[in-house]
Amino acid sequence: MGCNINAQKNFEDEYVSAVNTLASISQRRFLDVWMSFDLIFKLTTWGRRHDHALRVTQGFINKIIAERKAEWKAKTGGNFYERPHKRQALLDLLLELSKDGKVLTDDDIRDEVNTFMFAGHDTTATSVSWILYALGRHPQYQEKILKEYYESVGTEELTSDILSKLTWLEACIKESWRLYPVAPLIARQIYHPITILGHKIPIGSTILVNSFLLHRDARYFPEPDSYRPERFLPDGPRYPSYAFIPFSAGSRNCIGWKYATMIVKVLILYVVKNFQVESLDTEDQLRFISELVLHNADGLRLKISPRKQRILV
Ligand code: HEM
Repeated sequence: MGCNINAQKNFEDEYVSAVNTLASISQRRFLDVWMSFDLIFKLTTWGRRHDHALRVTQGFINKIIAERKAEWKAKTGGNFYERPHKRQALLDLLLELSKDGKVLTDDDIRDEVNTFMFAGHDTTATSVSWILYALGRHPQYQEKILKEYYESVGTEELTSDILSKLTWLEACIKESWRLYPVAPLIARQIYHPITILGHKIPIGSTILVNSFLLHRDARYFPEPDSYRPERFLPDGPRYPSYAFIPFSAGSRNCIGWKYATMIVKVLILYVVKNFQVESLDTEDQLRFISELVLHNADGLRLKISPRKQRILV
């Protein structure tokens, strides 16, 4: 959005904790039947915490939109058809599209900002954590990523073309997404009756696609609980396209998947080039919880030491 909240330095940031609170409470509401009734929910502590968190996030976004509009007006003399910066942040694009409220109102802009903030930041960050965890359990794959990188790329600047040639990097990332899908439950509301494997699903039901289990189907992924990135190398075995859905599938799949894949590749490569990663928890110590995104209940403990063999780049 072109706005820095220094979230990594400020763990107490009000906006960040409000977003975490909203994610955690929303997920719990899926699982607790009483909490699904708005009337009951609003009377509970969860309901009050939820409303407070919502006010914080809405207030924060409203403030950013107002500030950006003021900056825009100051730079362009109120002409919303002129661009104030060469490099536009998403918020600038939305403001430009809004045509001063004629096409998008402030509420519409706020909804878009919220969608992208929720859908884009926690998913990417969590994804990087799980990939580092997997690589930290299997350090031989860190070496494979680096070997391929230094043999085929060396120290050239990274471009999307170069990234697409790093097959070990991609395979390791995909295998981590298979075992630890960031969005483990994908929900769909049923508007037309459907029959799945002989089971009639009535209108009004909500169904959950459990990608965590789907990705561990031994028919397509033999030894499903083992981390074997080889299966995602270009000459690896084929699997049906709906057997692996880290970004969901169909018309409402992730709009940011290409961008997310690029960020994740760059980040993982950067970390692995400069550091040796070791995971301190074994797989059987993990306790998965879904707070919209997949977490380990006690976090993921990694030991990160400077990589000795290569000069830092
Ligand atoms: C590794 C990172 C990411 C993962 C694993 C991921 C995963 C997903 C999944 C599974 C969905 C579909 C949910 C559903 O079908 O109900 C989704 C939707 C969405 N994602 Fe992502 N996402 C990631 C990063 C991003 C980024 C970086 C952005 C934005 C820049 C983004 C924007 C969105 C949006 C806007 C939607 C809703 C699309 C719609 O409803 O039409 N995501 N994402």
